[in-house]
Amino acid sequence: MARSVLTLKYRPQRFDELLVQDHVRDTMKRAIEKSRLANAYLFCGPRGVGKTTTARILAKSLNCEKGPTTNPCNTCSFCTEITASRSLDVIEIDGASNNSVEDVRELRENAKYTPSSGRFKIYIIDEVHMLSPSAFNALLKTLEEPPAHVKFVFATTESHKVPATIVSRCQRFDFRRATPAEIRDRLAWLAKQEGIKVSDAALMAIARRADGAIRDGEGILDQLAAYRPDGIELEDVEELLGLVPTELFFDYADLILAGDGPGLMGFIARLFESGYDHIEFYSGVVQHFRDLLAVEVGGRNSGLSLLPEEVERMLRQAGAFGRGDLLRILHGITAYEAQAGSTQFPRVLLEVMSLELASGRSTLPKSAQVRDAQPDESGAPVAGDHPMTMATLWSELRLRTNAHRPMLAGFLELAAPQSLKDDVLSISLPTKHKAAAEKLEENQKQLAATLAEIAGRPIGLTVHLSRKPAPDATRERVNRIFGEVDERELH
Ligand SMILES: Nc1ncnc2c1ncn2[C@@H]1O[C@H](COP(=O)(O)OP(=O)(O)OP(=O)(O)O)[C@@H](O)[C@H]1O
Ligand SMILES: [Mg+2]
Ligand SMILES: [Zn+2]
Repeated sequence: MARSVLTLKYRPQRFDELLVQDHVRDTMKRAIEKSRLANAYLFCGPRGVGKTTTARILAKSLNCEKGPTTNPCNTCSFCTEITASRSLDVIEIDGASNNSVEDVRELRENAKYTPSSGRFKIYIIDEVHMLSPSAFNALLKTLEEPPAHVKFVFATTESHKVPATIVSRCQRFDFRRATPAEIRDRLAWLAKQEGIKVSDAALMAIARRADGAIRDGEGILDQLAAYRPDGIELEDVEELLGLVPTELFFDYADLILAGDGPGLMGFIARLFESGYDHIEFYSGVVQHFRDLLAVEVGGRNSGLSLLPEEVERMLRQAGAFGRGDLLRILHGITAYEAQAGSTQFPRVLLEVMSLELASGRSTLPKSAQVRDAQPDESGAPVAGDHPMTMATLWSELRLRTNAHRPMLAGFLELAAPQSLKDDVLSISLPTKHKAAAEKLEENQKQLAATLAEIAGRPIGLTVHLSRKPAPDATRERVNRIFGEVDERELH
């Protein structure tokens, strides 16, 4: 990921600005206070979590005019030079491109001389695992008899490739990945500082994509801010990153839930037409069902960072499946996922998998299904012999509407299907969404036309207002698992 403006501008300059790595920060501060510093440190951990940042803060702590101190001033010439990477006493070396024995010999020669102006000479070697075996040997000699004015900081993303002889001569710190929630909070703060408008859902999608690396999250936010200066929405993130929209995973799971074979085939056809990466889709499906299971099993302790509105939706879908079925489905998908990367026929594989998962579903008693259509209902539009035609019709209506009238689809998202009787689909919205209900009514003709297209014959549509924002059962479950939920957060 290219260096972003945000990353440079907001690189933490003191220990107290360093997030996530509390254990590193506290140990390091204590060592500085007690003047018990090691000669060499090994910083291990994934990309973009603060290894270089910490090395520089340490260098400042040691060489600051007011130091050694746990709180470098950031204004003296030593501090400002380090911030600007201009200090002659802080030498940053890229281990990947300076990995020969000659490079290390040169370093040893250089290390003999006292610092030009600071107290210590600090060598920061990034990606130290890239050194050649003979370079490591040369380095080892220096570590065995280090000059008193020299400190080493080695950073690596692959600690297992660093020889044990080196590791044993270093104080080791393990930097950890940031959680999506930690990255989201950091990005929300950055956005506020910079006046970047970004929705919660968009922030969360960026944070998840960053996959533990704070720097990557910042880089994505930076890119999006340039791409969408007026405000960043979830769709913008999905578009820029080529993510499969979250919405689709809910729809896919609904189709599995419905045991809706024809619906699934149509869904997969459109998925491939839209050009989404099928590997990403597979891993997204695994993730979605894994999240459903986590919510079903763990509730508050599920460890998921979900937006409040997502929680309710997840709970509803998870409850509709039930724990046993989620486990069965996850087993099924992971078995297929292994093949997804190598098959020449990804579409066929996905179709087979989906139908298999769905066929397991349709043998379940209808009473176990949540959004079920009336079992005795006469006009089953898509395929007469399977249940849940209402769910199929409904998810298809949302998908198709979203393709050409995204605003209208947004209103549909506020509604829930109530019944499908005598070829009339009845949907309802909470009373507080009266305006949305009116919009839907205004567009009734077009919506009915889309329904007819899906069903292959005329289907009517009626829009109602209902007092209940969500089924009581769901609300109760939400409250039971998450404690009393603030109504405002849910909507
Ligand atoms: N722990 C953190 N707290 C706050 N910001 C962080 C943290 N980690 C990373 N960042 C942000 O990411 C940027 C890059 O971090 P840094 O270069 O220190 O990561 P790194 O661990 O050295 O990564 P790499 O292994 O790729 O070199 C920082 O400038 C900062 O904006
Ligand atoms: Mg680094
Ligand atoms: Zn200073």
